[in-house]
Amino acid sequence: MSRTKRDSLSETIVPTAEDMHKLGHRLAEKAAPGMIAALSGSLGAGKTTLVKGVAEGLNISKTITSPSFTIIKEYYDGRMPLYHMDLYRIDNFEELYMIGFEELIYGEGLSIIEWSEKAEELIPCSAIEILIDILPDGSRNVKVDGLEL
Ligand SMILES: Nc1ncnc2c1ncn2[C@@H]1O[C@H](COP(=O)(O)OP(=O)(O)O)[C@@H](O)[C@H]1O
Ligand SMILES: [Mg+2]
Repeated sequence: MSRTKRDSLSETIVPTAEDMHKLGHRLAEKAAPGMIAALSGSLGAGKTTLVKGVAEGLNISKTITSPSFTIIKEYYDGRMPLYHMDLYRIDNFEELYMIGFEELIYGEGLSIIEWSEKAEELIPCSAIEILIDILPDGSRNVKVDGLEL
């Protein structure tokens, strides 16, 4: 996953949580079945906020909650399936196999993976990489590699 897709590497300042939602909408507009977005960034960076925007953009009516304890949540009532994963509590790859991580990421939906750095070896290099950094003024710097947002 370390290969940089430099032709579409971008960096954006996202001032507020509402703007992060809007970025999620844009990601949803560009999403295609089978697409994988690997999110990294510290606790509270805004990963789940981005996913909420994506879900809204896909017309998913259910409220997105953080899948920290369940690891994977699947939503099927939108324009395409959304697989929302949070690997924060994953200790080893076996757990991921058990919960069907690989079947899902090679499935027909959009996979968005929080704490994707925990499964780097399992994520194909075609995945879009999104890195969120919290800046001192509270805004977020969002680097996107692999898709123009
Ligand atoms: N520019 C911003 N982008 C995203 N979230 C922001 C921003 N500014 C403030 N926030 C707040 O930061 C928190 C981010 O939480 P969350 O999305 O759950 O982070 P993560 O999933 O990365 O742990 C939310 O409470 C959100 O309202
Ligand atoms: Mg989160």
